[in-house]
Amino acid sequence: MDDPKFLVLYGGLALLVLASIRKASQDPKLDSIPVVGSIGFFASYWNGFKFLANAPDLIQAGYNQYPEGVFRVARMFDWLVVVSNPQLVKEVGAAPENILSFHEGVQSTLPVRHVVGRAIAENHYHQHTIRTGLTRNLHACFPRVKEEIACAFDDVLQLHGSEWKSIPVLPMIMAVVSRVSNRLFVDLPLCRNQTYLENNVQFAIEVIQSGQRIHLFPKSLHPLVAPFIYRKNKSFGVALETLGPVVAERLSKENDLGPNWPGKPNDLISWLLEDAEGEERKMPALVMRILFANFAAIHTSSMTFTHAIFDLTTYPEHLLPMREEAERIIKAEGWTKAALNSMVKIDSFLRESQCLNGIGAVSMFRKVVSKGGFRFSNGTVLPEGSLVCAAAGPIQRNTSIYENAPEFDGFRFARQRAEHAVTHDPSQEVFKSQMISASENHLPFGTGKHACPGRFFAATELKAMLAHVVINYDLKAEVEGVRPRDSVFGLSITPNSTAKVQFQKRTDF
Ligand code: HEM
Ligand SMILES: *[C@@H]1O[C@H](CO)[C@@H](O)[C@H](O)[C@H]1NC(C)=O
Ligand SMILES: *[C@@H]1O[C@H](CO)[C@@H](O)[C@H](O)[C@H]1NC(C)=O
Ligand SMILES: *[C@@H]1O[C@H](CO)[C@@H](O)[C@H](O)[C@H]1NC(C)=O
Ligand SMILES: *[C@@H]1O[C@H](CO)[C@@H](O)[C@H](O)[C@H]1NC(C)=O
Ligand SMILES: *[C@@H]1O[C@H](CO)[C@@H](O)[C@H](O)[C@H]1NC(C)=O
Repeated sequence: MDDPKFLVLYGGLALLVLASIRKASQDPKLDSIPVVGSIGFFASYWNGFKFLANAPDLIQAGYNQYPEGVFRVARMFDWLVVVSNPQLVKEVGAAPENILSFHEGVQSTLPVRHVVGRAIAENHYHQHTIRTGLTRNLHACFPRVKEEIACAFDDVLQLHGSEWKSIPVLPMIMAVVSRVSNRLFVDLPLCRNQTYLENNVQFAIEVIQSGQRIHLFPKSLHPLVAPFIYRKNKSFGVALETLGPVVAERLSKENDLGPNWPGKPNDLISWLLEDAEGEERKMPALVMRILFANFAAIHTSSMTFTHAIFDLTTYPEHLLPMREEAERIIKAEGWTKAALNSMVKIDSFLRESQCLNGIGAVSMFRKVVSKGGFRFSNGTVLPEGSLVCAAAGPIQRNTSIYENAPEFDGFRFARQRAEHAVTHDPSQEVFKSQMISASENHLPFGTGKHACPGRFFAATELKAMLAHVVINYDLKAEVEGVRPRDSVFGLSITPNSTAKVQFQKRTDF
């Protein structure tokens, strides 16, 4: 803040607000959508500030008032249309990109174009690579994932004998997730190189923070202010130094020996090379893709797992049943990816934790990009330019969708699966209660066309991590029965980043 650059930027804010009020007259016409919070020019700007402070409560209030439909809330410079009704959420998920754009929706929450660059904002081939190459190889690569989980926890926890040690959970989990993900993405030795790993985290932090700062300005000014706020150069430069040579060597091997050379590693670099074309086959572009994959993978997975650890220490009665399940299944089937499929309690626990602690109050941002707007089946029309999202948090806490929803019930989905197994219900119901199954009632990964392509990997990684933790450690809350408070900024909800949990190596083997 003491940087004079920022003084100039924030000093200009008042002018910009005026400029954007003029712009507001050109906003899409949303008169038919009810407003939550007070209306009126200045009131809506005041709401915009309130939005930054406490968006989740505002979204919940809107949902309580309009649980069957659609409402809107004011952000600093625009309206956010929030969809409450799961059937309408399903329609949002199913809409084609040329009507409801996922990428323009992302852009309006995180200015990807300005903070990560045009190539990533406009060419999304990595989504295909993640959905196919990476997901298909999870089985074959599981031994690497499992080995890295064990070494990473050993290294970061540094437990000796039977000591109990207080560990700040989020940074610890971030270190483990970075290593484990990169064991799959770039393999040894780079996946253990501190310079490389810390730089990935640094990149993510820079991108998110600069995104938030850029969003303090109206959209028309983003291209102007972005260069002051963010120079992606720094972390990109470190990535070029660490990862660059590895990628360059792969490219030269492929040039010399063709695409299927003997001993070709099975990792994200190879999978990207199967899909990348033209400019994207150059070293710097591939390095940026991998940096971006790290960005998409590591924060989301680390926050999800941190929430799960806080839930485990807040509701410790779940520990022993999961330990029993993991040990029994590994003994019977071996420690494989297939064994994870049988770990229904662990799967259920993670799903319940995601359900109650989504990493945002809403999910599925979309921008209406078609001239004719977007029409819901019930006739409500959102005009071109509207920004829309789903009331994920409130839907997942709705007691008529999930019995006793707000109460943490780690094995509710395991029981659902067991009941369906008895009734032999031929429908997809069993499949629907798994961690990976996205639906209009379960939105941590979104749903529909753009549901997270990395969720199969995320589920494999996080289930294997949870199995490893419950088998190898005892853990307890810093203060018994107290769950550390989340931090809220705008729509994002993150687990408390400093709170600790106590770990001990199991002594009862
Ligand atoms: C528990 C962890 C994760 C959560 C909660 C999560 C959540 C999400 C959500 C909500 C979306 C947007 C869906 C929509 O709007 O319909 C998304 C998109 C995406 N996710 Fe994930 N995700 C996770 C892990 C991962 C991992 C491990 C990867 C990569 C291996 C990944 C890669 C992506 C990509 C590439 C997209 C598309 C976004 C883009 O290309 O800009 N995610 N994810
Ligand atoms: C469509 O549904 C929303 C939410 O239920 C409601 O606000 C709106 O009045 C409905 N519109 C029509 C035309 O039925
Ligand atoms: C739960 O969702 C249903 C259907 O969308 C809605 O009618 C009901 O009012 C919601 N209940 C609560 C408590 O929000
Ligand atoms: C960083 O930016 C400077 C100036 O904008 C440029 O000369 C340099 O090549 C960039 N470095 C990287 C790694 O992109
Ligand atoms: C990490 O990578 C950098 C750049 O390639 C290298 O200079 C450094 O020695 C590596 N560190 C370790 C601990 O291997
Ligand atoms: C995080 O947890 C610590 C300790 O439990 C607490 O002192 C702190 O206030 C919490 N932070 C937030 C943002 O709630």
